[in-house]
Amino acid sequence: MPEPLNDKVRAFWERGPVGTDWRITGAAEPRSPAWFQRVEDNRYANEPFIHAVAQFTRHRGKRLLEIGVGAGTDHLQWARAGCFCHGVDLTQAAIETTRAHLALHGFSSELRRIDAEALPFADGSFDLVWSWGVIHHSENPDRIIAEIHRVLRPGGLFLGMLYNRRSLSVFAEWLKHGLLAGKPWRSFADILWHHFESVGTKAYTLREVDRLFAAFRRRSLATYMTPYDLQHWPPAIAAWMPQRWGMFITIRAMK
Ligand SMILES: C[S@@+](CC[C@H](N)C(=O)[O-])C[C@H]1O[C@@H](n2cnc3c(N)ncnc32)[C@H](O)[C@@H]1O
Repeated sequence: MPEPLNDKVRAFWERGPVGTDWRITGAAEPRSPAWFQRVEDNRYANEPFIHAVAQFTRHRGKRLLEIGVGAGTDHLQWARAGCFCHGVDLTQAAIETTRAHLALHGFSSELRRIDAEALPFADGSFDLVWSWGVIHHSENPDRIIAEIHRVLRPGGLFLGMLYNRRSLSVFAEWLKHGLLAGKPWRSFADILWHHFESVGTKAYTLREVDRLFAAFRRRSLATYMTPYDLQHWPPAIAAWMPQRWGMFITIRAMK
């Protein structure tokens, strides 16, 4: 029997939540205040648009579920904003890091280490579900999206981000692992699956994302250019790159 994909995904992310490696945290003691501060500073310096998408403080008092909490940096913002927080992640590393992160600031959340393809919550349990850069790592993203739809109350909101296949970041990966490796026939999807973060990573076109969220009544999508897309381009050229070639597709979908 081959190893299930999500076991490999879990093994990859158990090495440490994204955005917490030593290049970001330097010599700070893991999970110390200085360490968490560097993680947070780095996150919102690179992805400042998270605030525009989440609009944390607008959701005071809501029952929130975050899928894929990672280092808990966004989860802390939801707690600060006055949400009733629940969070899940495939890894123990993420759950423990998030718990420590919130505790440092005097907050707590219902956190569970589970696979979000089957959520242990009743139908209509949440007003809001947040998931940033997570669903495309799972073996069956459609199952997670169906679960999100199920656990949201009618009128509830999903906010999140999936990777854009037609982006500069994905093109750079194709140049490295396809063209320059003498295998230009390899597809963007194949390159991502094998070389980008955990094995099995997927990325989508805008139309594909819209189809994934078709069960939601109202949907709006946007693309965001990121520093990861622009890192290999001279600033004079980078300034002219259109937003639609950015790595992140953000989703706002109402049940
Ligand atoms: C790139 S990290 C993103 C973490 C966080 N949202 C952030 O933006 O920093 C992906 C996270 O998704 C989690 N993940 C992947 N597949 C999952 C699944 N099926 N169920 C729950 N969590 C999952 C991983 O364990 C990892 O913590």
